[in-house]
Amino acid sequence: MGRDDESRLGHGFLPDVCPRLSHGAAQAVHFICHSARWEECSGAGAAAAGTFGTSACSGRQETGGRVTARRWKSKAGTRAGASCALLLLAACSGRQSALDPAGEDAETLALMFTVMVTAAAILWLCLNGLFFYVTRVSPRRMSRKLANGLVIGGGILMPLVLIGALLAWGLSILPDHDQPGDGLVIRVQGEQWWWRVAYETPEGDVISANEIRMPVGERVSFVLDSHRVIHSFWIPSLGGKMDMFPGRQTNLSLRADEAGIYRGQCAEFCGASHAWMAFEVEAMEPDAFDAWLAAEAAPAGPPDGGAEAIGRQIFAREGCGGCHEIRGTEFQGQVGPDLTHVGSRHSLGAGRLGARLEDFSTWIAHTDDLKPGVEMPPFDHLPQEELTALAAYLKGLQ
Ligand code: CUA
Repeated sequence: MGRDDESRLGHGFLPDVCPRLSHGAAQAVHFICHSARWEECSGAGAAAAGTFGTSACSGRQETGGRVTARRWKSKAGTRAGASCALLLLAACSGRQSALDPAGEDAETLALMFTVMVTAAAILWLCLNGLFFYVTRVSPRRMSRKLANGLVIGGGILMPLVLIGALLAWGLSILPDHDQPGDGLVIRVQGEQWWWRVAYETPEGDVISANEIRMPVGERVSFVLDSHRVIHSFWIPSLGGKMDMFPGRQTNLSLRADEAGIYRGQCAEFCGASHAWMAFEVEAMEPDAFDAWLAAEAAPAGPPDGGAEAIGRQIFAREGCGGCHEIRGTEFQGQVGPDLTHVGSRHSLGAGRLGARLEDFSTWIAHTDDLKPGVEMPPFDHLPQEELTALAAYLKGLQ
């Protein structure tokens, strides 16, 4: 995949390299690289800076100035250190952060994290303070009785009481993933590497894929399983993760308290494109959700306009309907994601690209570059005008 292709990717390159980097974190990586006067801050190097620390940013320095190499290194070191701190802080917010909760369970987990980290930090400071005191401040011989007391008291009793108390408190507030919801049941099945989604309604299942919408303020029951390998369903902004197993059903109960679009991610290694297995979650006001679900249940409308009609013909000619279903048409495939309303989704390829018209043609022509190992072959033999017509048809499936 060339640079032109990369620049066309919907979400920008940095978050694509590491989907767990929030936008803020990506900006911080950018800042780190500029702090170290890297001439070009993009691509894998910047991602490496974010992943492996600032060592990767010790690239080139300006020559010929009055700043000596040593002073430059010192300045760059200070800046890089400050930038690393900024990077850590920036990762605390965003639409895929467990530390930026937008739901009841995520708030509980964020509180647990804060309390546990604070307690661990206090314990660490106390033990190191004690160590510093006995080795540097007052390095005198100690009676056996005092030494035994320190080992038993500080090494066994204190951790037992402190960690025991934290464990008991943590278990007492841990969200119950099996608790009953307020009525809505969404079944999600993990595929390699996308998500099959079904909303249970009295009139029957409403089938969708790679995106979840849910009403704000209502607890939703997710029923999870998998087709071939183990995946893990995780929406960090809304709650904890839950594994998805082939042949076994697991449950997760989540409530969103703030309307917005969040990002979910598979959290269990499931093959070559595990990192590209994401999805969008839109928490909507209940009335808007009901209207959306009614529209999602309806079959696809006919093509609107010449390009869309040509795109539909190409869809049929290339056999796309053998894998994909578009309800209300002759296309009934069940292998790949349902496309009945694919034009209304926020992303393509399970969070891989945005959902602009050009993203559709990029995805269709470059599936194997964008998602290594994916079952859908790349349709790069199609001329650009046919790709554009296909994109118009699919984008028109609102
Ligand atoms: Cu699915 Cu990792």
